Amino acid sequence: METISIIDAKKHVNEKVKIGVWLTNKRSSGKIAFLQLRDGTAFFQGVVVKNNVTAETFALAKEVRQEESMYVTGTIHEDTRSHFGYEIEIEAIEPVGTSKDYPIAPKEHGTDFLMDHRHLWLRSKRQFAIMKIRSEIIRATYEFFHKEGFVKFDAPILTGSAPEGTTELFHTEYFDRDAYLSQSGQLYEEAGAMAYGKVFSFGPTFRAEKSKTRRHLIEFWMIEPEMAFMHQEESLEIQERYIAFLVQNVLDNCQYELKLLGRDPQVLQRYTELPYPRISYDEAIELLQKAGDFPDVKWGKDFGSPEETYLAEHFSKPVFVLNYPKAIKPFYMKPHPTREDVVICADLLAPEGYGEIIGGSERATDPAYLEAQIEKAGLDKADYQWYLDLRRYGSVPHSGFGLGLERAVTWITGEDHIREAIPFPRLLNRIYP
Ligand code: 4AD
Ligand code: MG
Repeated sequence: METISIIDAKKHVNEKVKIGVWLTNKRSSGKIAFLQLRDGTAFFQGVVVKNNVTAETFALAKEVRQEESMYVTGTIHEDTRSHFGYEIEIEAIEPVGTSKDYPIAPKEHGTDFLMDHRHLWLRSKRQFAIMKIRSEIIRATYEFFHKEGFVKFDAPILTGSAPEGTTELFHTEYFDRDAYLSQSGQLYEEAGAMAYGKVFSFGPTFRAEKSKTRRHLIEFWMIEPEMAFMHQEESLEIQERYIAFLVQNVLDNCQYELKLLGRDPQVLQRYTELPYPRISYDEAIELLQKAGDFPDVKWGKDFGSPEETYLAEHFSKPVFVLNYPKAIKPFYMKPHPTREDVVICADLLAPEGYGEIIGGSERATDPAYLEAQIEKAGLDKADYQWYLDLRRYGSVPHSGFGLGLERAVTWITGEDHIREAIPFPRLLNRIYP
């Protein structure tokens, strides 16, 4: 008899198998017990019929408690009524680990309570589905960039520079000097692009943002591709191909998880159709002003969550917003060739109100311009000499972008809040568990 995972049940219909499982829930009468089981690969039902098993096995089935672990032995059958499609008729139960008074009962709990028990909450169905989809997005990311000829190029986490501005830095000590946790790997990726052409990083980033929104984490994971000899328009094409590829792979490989979440595959299918619309920042401002609900919107201001939500809902696909005002964007973006006031950049806003999932730009190449911008941003020129070297020795047009992994996961899974898109979220008031 084979020991299998639940996910492989379909290959063993009418066969006798053994599976290591946890109990998530149960229902029983005098004659039959229905055990809801999980093993980390899927959820399905075990049926124990009193007349077909020993008295001892039936007693075990009636007594087993939530989250107790055990080996079950039995025969796989089709079960067309369930999402999963198969069940096991159990013949024997071998207890492994006990569990008493499991804190998360199969009922509604408040978010704070669930967050305090995040280490256990991860075992539940929705969290399972979200983490599986997150894992698929990571897998597909590596596949996409390798297929497109990118080199994985890791950026350091301990840094001395502040690419996205100094207000959100996590300060730490580096022996006798100051250091910061990385808020973006981009500047290092630019060095990588000059060495290897097309590179990408995928790592944790940290922002001491005092914002408590559905979209902000203090620690999040970012995918940052950077491409030499590439202008912004070509970078936008890579970005939309990449996003469509992620969505398509989730559709192909996570049907069960989407079903568990109740996420409509037809809605996602729309997002695989390219191209995505492109509008300018100027046009976005006009749209918002016409909408009438945003009295504070005026040219030159950054969008807040409500503005981004409106714009994202206005289109049925992700939309690129191009060329924001120079004054509200980081120092490294390429100035517009004919306009003083904007830079060559784009944010990609996800539909259904999810807002910015990608930020990217073409990079400035003129070392004198960059030096002036660094000074203007209040940064120390000495810290950026290595970065300016990239412009001094064979500088080329180059572009790149950053996708926030958890923003993408929240959108693709259709979740309300980014805190459920990462195993252990770091939030403004939370670093436990
Ligand atoms: O727009 P951002 O700040 O851009 C950069 O960091 C660039 N250096 C990227 C590049 O060009 N290489 O951040 C990029 C993305 C955002 O679009 C968003 O998806 C995500 O990172 N992000 C966050 N995700 C969760 N919590 C936060 N606090 C985030 N801040 C940014
Ligand atoms: Mg941004």
